[in-house]
Amino acid sequence: MAHQQQYPLPPHVLIFPVPVQGHVNSMLKLAELLSLAAVDVTFLLSEFSHRRLLRHTDIFSRFTRYPGFRFETISDGLPDDHPRAGEQIFDMLSSIKNVTGPLFKEMMVATGCLSSDGRRPVTCIIADGVFSFAGDFALEKGIALIYFRTISACAFWAYFCFQEIVEAGEVPLKGNGMDLLVKSVPGMEGFLRRRDLPGFIRVDEVSDPRLQVFKAETRQTLRAQAIIVNTFEDLEGPILSNIRTVLPDCFTIGPLHSHLKSRLSEGKTTTTPPSLASSSFWEEDRSCIEWLDGKPPKSVVYVSFGSITVLSREQLMEFWYGLVNSRQHFLWVMRSESIVGKDRESQIPAEVSEGTKVRGCMVGWAPQEEVLNHDAIGGFLTHSGWNSTLESIVAGVPMICWPYFADQTINSRFVSEVWKIGLDMKDTCDRVVIEQMIRDLMVVKKDEFIQSTDRIAKMAKEAVSMGGSSYCNL
Ligand code: UDX
Repeated sequence: MAHQQQYPLPPHVLIFPVPVQGHVNSMLKLAELLSLAAVDVTFLLSEFSHRRLLRHTDIFSRFTRYPGFRFETISDGLPDDHPRAGEQIFDMLSSIKNVTGPLFKEMMVATGCLSSDGRRPVTCIIADGVFSFAGDFALEKGIALIYFRTISACAFWAYFCFQEIVEAGEVPLKGNGMDLLVKSVPGMEGFLRRRDLPGFIRVDEVSDPRLQVFKAETRQTLRAQAIIVNTFEDLEGPILSNIRTVLPDCFTIGPLHSHLKSRLSEGKTTTTPPSLASSSFWEEDRSCIEWLDGKPPKSVVYVSFGSITVLSREQLMEFWYGLVNSRQHFLWVMRSESIVGKDRESQIPAEVSEGTKVRGCMVGWAPQEEVLNHDAIGGFLTHSGWNSTLESIVAGVPMICWPYFADQTINSRFVSEVWKIGLDMKDTCDRVVIEQMIRDLMVVKKDEFIQSTDRIAKMAKEAVSMGGSSYCNL
């Protein structure tokens, strides 16, 4: 006790992400940054994602270096064979609300809010921004509450304005007004089209349950003492100013992967960058690095649609023909379960897997950050998930965006129209367009894109360096 009075125990933060790859990746990086600052951290994972990390990574041994760090698990309420991908990801969000929510409360109460062996009870909850039930608990118990939005500031702000969009009659969409500009999102009036809004607001009925859920979950963030966004000031300054009119304590600390690397290398004399722990839910196939080693600089298109996107066989074939016809080398990540269809339709056709070998390489899952930083990569055909976008920005790789859902449709508009670091292929999946865009990115407009990606990559690195905006905000 005397010891405790002399040296008070550090704060104890509970970090609770949506158990989806992109959310877990960024929130684990925050967890490590806080651990480096000697804050005690409990990281709460779904049992399902915990098992996947155990199977494919050594993340658990990595964190043993931080004595105040613990992993805890909780059920997501879904059976193991649930796909947790595509549109069915919404089942997971509702199961977490209905099943995990009450379990979370029970667990927190039963464990005296996770106090154990020299750690204080949780003093602050950093919850994923769509976990209002965690916010309810924090407020009920008087625990400090911070929401972490794993999406971009621009996507968060557009979600925040859903109510105004609906009130202005900009949705439901009537007829073919998809290219009309949206006027109800301050700061985006000049370029955000209705087709850039996420699928769950481009609806026929405003009573659509997904729209209602996202609207409510975003508005309730106002209850928190602060929000954290994985972005940086120089990238999203004007949008952040709008957010701060309603949420003044909005802290940008990203890009988190780069931020963590920068902190880990502080004080180190070696020039080799520190390695980050993999937190992949799938086994990383490193053979693609060897394949890239044999390719000329900036000659390969990296193709990956993240952890949730699913493709129909028709879409797969359009991408494949587009890639092959572009005559560029390509490295394509194809998760085993990412093609939807009945029986044989959900398998990769032999002509694709065999034909790819001529100019390409296909893997089930790649060490993406390492791939994007490889000299051979010249472009990224992406679903515009926010982590993928930030990783591409830091690596200085221009993008072709094929957004699948949610925030991705807004990110891709910013990539092409605001930051000018890529092209947006939204709402089309056509081999001719794909081929043309790859040629534009890799050949025709290559120098133009290199200039703008280099500039933004430099700003990202400055943000996380000593004295930079994200460094100071953290
Ligand atoms: C998504 C998006 O963040 C977001 O758009 C959506 O709202 C919900 O979650 P996800 O599909 O996981 O997540 O995309 P992204 O945010 O890009 O994260 C994917 C992560 O997986 C990245 O960190 C990427 O480096 C990693 N990854 C992807 C690999 O390590 N290997 C791969 O082969 C593919």
